[in-house]
Amino acid sequence: MSAAPSPALPALSVEGLRVAYGDVEVVRGVDLVVRPGEKVGVVGESGCGKSTVALALMGLLAAGGSVTGGAVTVSGSRVDYHDERALDRMRGSQLSLVFQDPLTSLDPVKSIGSQIAEALRRHSPRMSRAAVRARCAELLTAVGVPEPERRLRQYPHEFSGGMRQRALIAVAVANDPAVLIADEPTTALDVTTQAQVVDLLDSLVDGLGVAVVLVTHDIGLVSEFCDRVLVMYAGRVVEEVPSDVLFGGAAHPYTRALLESLPVPGRPRGEDLAWIPGAPPPLSALPPGCSFAPRCAWAQPECSVGTPPRVVVSEPSVAALGTALHTAECRRALEVPRG
Ligand SMILES: Nc1ncnc2c1ncn2[C@@H]1O[C@H](COP(=O)(O)OP(=O)(O)O)[C@@H](O)[C@H]1O
Ligand SMILES: [Mg+2]
Repeated sequence: MSAAPSPALPALSVEGLRVAYGDVEVVRGVDLVVRPGEKVGVVGESGCGKSTVALALMGLLAAGGSVTGGAVTVSGSRVDYHDERALDRMRGSQLSLVFQDPLTSLDPVKSIGSQIAEALRRHSPRMSRAAVRARCAELLTAVGVPEPERRLRQYPHEFSGGMRQRALIAVAVANDPAVLIADEPTTALDVTTQAQVVDLLDSLVDGLGVAVVLVTHDIGLVSEFCDRVLVMYAGRVVEEVPSDVLFGGAAHPYTRALLESLPVPGRPRGEDLAWIPGAPPPLSALPPGCSFAPRCAWAQPECSVGTPPRVVVSEPSVAALGTALHTAECRRALEVPRG
């Protein structure tokens, strides 16, 4: 973790990540590259493995969970998930994670200030008390909590849900990580507060240069916030698509179905959800071939045989910029009507 950050290096690079709980592989070869200051979305239905990816990257899998394959590099340095001390140094200073529920992630018996201070001291044990106090106030201000001096002395229960999420984000960015992974950070919040938290994440990308990986089931949210979106299904990334071509240009039938299930303003209720038939398959008994084939309107007999190819869709405008590739793991990716 000692390499100097370089803008040329990805902030985070994940290759072929595999994670199993017991005998069941739930993350089945995930690739993810995040460049400095980039906003990347990871989206998919509940149970597709999003949180497992986030926890595995942090080295925080629950008992019974293990990384069974792949390589992770943070700011150019390979992460050794067997080295607990190195992981401790990495967490918070290179990679940070905020969870969905700030009430369970914050310690109810410690003041907000002492929790931010603890995060700071973990990586900078020699910081003076005055410097810690000043930095805590600065961080609360940066995450949009007014009256930081007073707020630092308060406890989590004295904060509203939105303010708690802000405090948690302050803890997560206290040590200037290269990448902040936010796992459903707005799911427990009302719509207005959700929008404020997303604005806050945006301001952190601009202000601190931190890259954000936004993990959510909400494809509308990622399309608004992110530069690039990875769509997961049954433990794999089935499409990687620049956000600006997501709506008109998504190529994987699963991504299209997710987009069609978004409520459309003005359409009468009852007609606003295009259901994806069936449910995701249990990861312990995946169908042969493409995991989505049994639910896919476009499936052909060959889709149930062998691994589906990763097809480069690459919208011309994006390919021309050379910034983001558009790929879909579907043998019919170029035939599915887009738009
Ligand atoms: N601690 C755990 N032990 C066993 N299985 C788990 C555990 N956590 C998650 N899983 C299983 O792993 C799969 C992926 O879960 P998860 O990563 O939480 O999905 P998501 O965040 O996309 O909803 C699910 O089938 C889930 O039941
Ligand atoms: Mg989850």
